Amino acid sequence: MSGLFPPAFSFLSCTLTTLLLHACFGVQATTIVSFDEQPPTSATQNVVRDNFIGISYELASYDTLWGKTASTVPAAVQNYMSNLNARMSNPLRIRVGGNAMDGSTYVPNKTDEMLILIDPEAYFNDIPVEFGPILFDVMNMMADKAGEMEFVIGLSMRDPQNDTNVVTLAKDAHDKLGNRLDALLLGNEPDLYAGHGNRQDYNISVYIPEIGQVLDDLKKQGILEKPLIGGPTICCGWDLADVIEAGLDRYDYKYYTLQHYPNHACAGLNERNTNVSSYASHSNLNDYIGWNDRGINLAVTDNVPVILTEYNSVSCGGSNISDLFVMSLWGIDAGLKAISRNFSAVYLHTREYGIQYNLFDPPTDPSLNDSSQSPGWKTGSTYYAALFLSEVGSPSGSVVIDLNLNNSIDNPSSLVAGYGIYSANPTYGFTRDKLVFLNYADGSNPTYPNNGSGYFFSTTESTQTFKIPENTATKVSYRILTAESLFSTTNTSAGGSTDAIKWAGQWIGDLGNLRGQRETHLMECNKGCDIVVPSPGAAIVILTDDDSFYMGNSTVVSSLEDSSSSLDTTIVDSAGLGNGAMGSLQLSVVKLYPLWLGVALVLMMTA
Ligand SMILES: *[C@@H]1O[C@H](CO)[C@@H](O)[C@H](O)[C@H]1NC(C)=O
Ligand SMILES: *[C@@H]1O[C@H](CO)[C@@H](O)[C@H](O)[C@H]1NC(C)=O
Ligand SMILES: *[C@@H]1O[C@H](CO)[C@@H](O)[C@H](O)[C@H]1NC(C)=O
Ligand SMILES: *[C@@H]1O[C@H](CO)[C@@H](O)[C@H](O)[C@H]1NC(C)=O
Ligand SMILES: *[C@@H]1O[C@H](CO)[C@@H](O)[C@H](O)[C@H]1NC(C)=O
Ligand SMILES: *[C@@H]1O[C@H](CO)[C@@H](O)[C@H](O)[C@H]1NC(C)=O
Ligand SMILES: *[C@@H]1O[C@H](CO)[C@@H](O)[C@H](O)[C@H]1NC(C)=O
Ligand SMILES: *[C@@H]1O[C@H](CO)[C@@H](O)[C@H](O)[C@H]1NC(C)=O
Ligand SMILES: *[C@@H]1O[C@H](CO)[C@@H](O)[C@H](O)[C@H]1NC(C)=O
Ligand SMILES: *[C@@H]1O[C@H](CO)[C@@H](O)[C@H](O)[C@H]1NC(C)=O
Ligand SMILES: *[C@@H]1O[C@H](CO)[C@@H](O)[C@H](O)[C@H]1NC(C)=O
Repeated sequence: MSGLFPPAFSFLSCTLTTLLLHACFGVQATTIVSFDEQPPTSATQNVVRDNFIGISYELASYDTLWGKTASTVPAAVQNYMSNLNARMSNPLRIRVGGNAMDGSTYVPNKTDEMLILIDPEAYFNDIPVEFGPILFDVMNMMADKAGEMEFVIGLSMRDPQNDTNVVTLAKDAHDKLGNRLDALLLGNEPDLYAGHGNRQDYNISVYIPEIGQVLDDLKKQGILEKPLIGGPTICCGWDLADVIEAGLDRYDYKYYTLQHYPNHACAGLNERNTNVSSYASHSNLNDYIGWNDRGINLAVTDNVPVILTEYNSVSCGGSNISDLFVMSLWGIDAGLKAISRNFSAVYLHTREYGIQYNLFDPPTDPSLNDSSQSPGWKTGSTYYAALFLSEVGSPSGSVVIDLNLNNSIDNPSSLVAGYGIYSANPTYGFTRDKLVFLNYADGSNPTYPNNGSGYFFSTTESTQTFKIPENTATKVSYRILTAESLFSTTNTSAGGSTDAIKWAGQWIGDLGNLRGQRETHLMECNKGCDIVVPSPGAAIVILTDDDSFYMGNSTVVSSLEDSSSSLDTTIVDSAGLGNGAMGSLQLSVVKLYPLWLGVALVLMMTA
C-alpha cells in the first residue's frame, strides 16, 4: 500500500519504541539537489538515445519465452516488450546470444521449430542448441506485434578456421531481419575461451588476426556494406583498452561491447553474492562500472559507441537476493551509472526458467510443461528496473550525469543517489530535462537486524526529501517506484505478493500486463519544491514542458484481470517547502477520470 501517500506510510511503520526515541521525526532526511544548467563538456560526447535500456536473452531458452514458431509468440512477452517499447521513441533493443549461442549450430534447413537442445548433460551456464531460421521469423513477429525493435545477434569465434556456419547464420540474419538487424556480435566472452577449454594457447594476439579472417569471410557475402559488427564482448579476463590497442581499432566496428556482473555464484552462495547492502550502496558502482574506463574513453574518443550487452546482479544464475526489490533500484542505478560513464546502451540479461535474476518467467518449467501461452507469468524485480529506465530518456537524445548527491559517488554511507538528465535538443542545445532520485534507506522494515543478513542500514532515516532549488523548473511532474522494503519480492512462493513492487502505482499482472491505476504527481516548483521519495524507492522527475511521461496503454493482449476502470490518477502535491515531516499533511489528492484527464493535464502543465 505504499506509494500513494509516502510520508504517511513511513509514519505508520514507526513503532512505539522508535517514536519514543524520536526516530520517526527524523524519517524525512533532506538532500539538496544541485543540477547545473549546462552539462560538463566532458559529458557531452555521450548523447544516448532513449532506447538505451535493452533486454538480453540467452539463446538456449529463447524459444520458451518468445515462442517456438512465429504463430505462437506468447501474449505475455508481447506485453512485457510492449510496456518497455511504448515508453521510448526509438526501437526497443533486443540481444540474443550468450554462451549458448557461441556453442550452438545454425541449421538453415531446420524449418519445423526454432531450436532444440542437443546435449541433455550440458553445463547449465553453457547450453548448446541447434537452431534454424524460425528464430528470425519469431523475432520479426514480435517486432510486428510489440513495436519496432533493434536486434543484436551473437556469432561464435570459437572455431574461426571453420566459420562456414557462422557466415551462413550472419547472412540469414542480415537477409531476414533487414533494417531491424542492429549488430552482429563476433565472439561471446572470448576472454574465457581458454579458461573454459574452448581454445588452447589463446590470447589477444591470437584473437585479433582471427577476427580479420572472419570479417573477410563475412565481407565476401556482401553483408557488411554498412558497419554491423560489434565486439569483443569481453567480461572478465581481458581489458578493452588492451584489445583496442592490440589492433581491434583497425577493423570497422559499429560497437565495442562488454558484459559484466558485480559478483558471481558459480561456486554457490557466499558473503559477497548475498550481501544486500553492497547492492544498496551507490559508491560500489564505481568499481563495477569503471573496470574498463580506459578502453571506454578510448572508444568514445574514436567515436565507437560502447554497449554493455549483458548486466544483472549475480552471474551464473543469480543468488537468493537477485529477485528482491533492492535489485530494481540497483538495476536502475547501475544502468544510469554506466550511461554517465560513457556507455551508450545497457542490456539487462534474462535466462531460462527459474534463474533468480530473470526479468520474467513462464508459469511452469517449460521442460516439463509448455505453459507459455497461459496466464500466470512471474515478474522479477529487475523487470521494474527496465520499466523505469524506459521512461528516463528524452526522444531527442540525453546526457546523463551523476549528481553526486550527499557525496554518494564515493561516500559508502550515502543512502541516496541522483542523476541529472539533459535533453540534447538540436535547436536549443542541452537543456535540463529530468532528475532521477534513488532512496536506498529501508526505514520501513525495522525487523531486519542492522547487523545481520549483510544488512546494516539505519532504520531511523527513511523517507527522503529531495529539494529542487528555485529556478530549476516552474512546475514538475513525477512518478515513484517503491516497495515496502529492499527485501520485498514478487516471488509468491517466497512469501512475496504480485503487487509488492509498484511503478507509478502500477504492477505487472499475470500476462505481462500493467495493472492498477497509474499515478503521476504534479507540483508547482517556481520557488523550488520538495520531492518526497518513499523508503525504499526511486523517482523520475520531469522538469520541463518539452517532455512528458508516457500516458498510453501499453497492453497488447489483455488478461482476464484487466478491468476497464480508468487508467490514470493525477496527484497534485504542494511544493512542500520547509514543511519537513509535516509536508504530507498538505498533500491534496485529486482524482481525474479519463475524459477529463487530457484537458486537466494540459491546463496544469501550461498554467
Ligand atoms: C538438413 O540438411 C542436412 C544435410 O543436408 C540433412 O542431413 C538434414 O536431415 C536436413 N534436416 C532437415 C530438417 O531437413
Ligand atoms: C566445421 O563445422 C561444422 C559445423 O559447424 C562441422 O560439421 C564440421 O565437421 C566442421 N569441419 C571441420 C573441418 O572441423
Ligand atoms: C599468445 O599466444 C601465442 C600462441 O600460443 C604465443 O605465441 C604468444 O607469445 C602469446 N602472446 C602473449 C602476449 O602472451
Ligand atoms: C556488505 O556490503 C557492505 C557495503 O558495501 C560492506 O560494508 C560490508 O562489509 C559487506 N559485508 C560483507 C559480509 O561482505
Ligand atoms: C567520457 O569520455 C570522454 C572522452 O574520452 C572523457 O573526456 C570523459 O571524461 C569520459 N567521462 C567519464 C565520466 O569518464
Ligand atoms: C500445463 O500448464 C498449464 C498452465 O499452467 C495448465 O493449464 C496445464 O494443465 C498444464 N498441463 C500439464 C500436463 O501439466
Ligand atoms: C549522507 O551522508 C552522511 C555522512 O556519510 C550519512 O551519515 C547520512 O546518513 C547520509 N544521508 C543520506 C540521506 O544519504
Ligand atoms: C548484532 O551483533 C552483535 C554482536 O555480534 C550480536 O550480539 C547481536 O545479537 C546482533 N544483533 C542483531 C539484531 O542481529
Ligand atoms: C541468502 O543466503 C545466505 C546464505 O545462505 C543467507 O545467509 C541469507 O540470509 C539469505 N538471504 C536472503 C535474503 O534470503
Ligand atoms: C522463489 O522462492 C522460492 C522459495 O523461497 C525459491 O525456492 C525460488 O528459487 C524462488 N524463485 C525465484 C525465481 O527466485
Ligand atoms: C488497455 O488495453 C487492453 C488491451 O486492449 C484493454 O484490455 C484494457 O482494458 C486497457 N486498459 C485500460 C485501463 O484502458
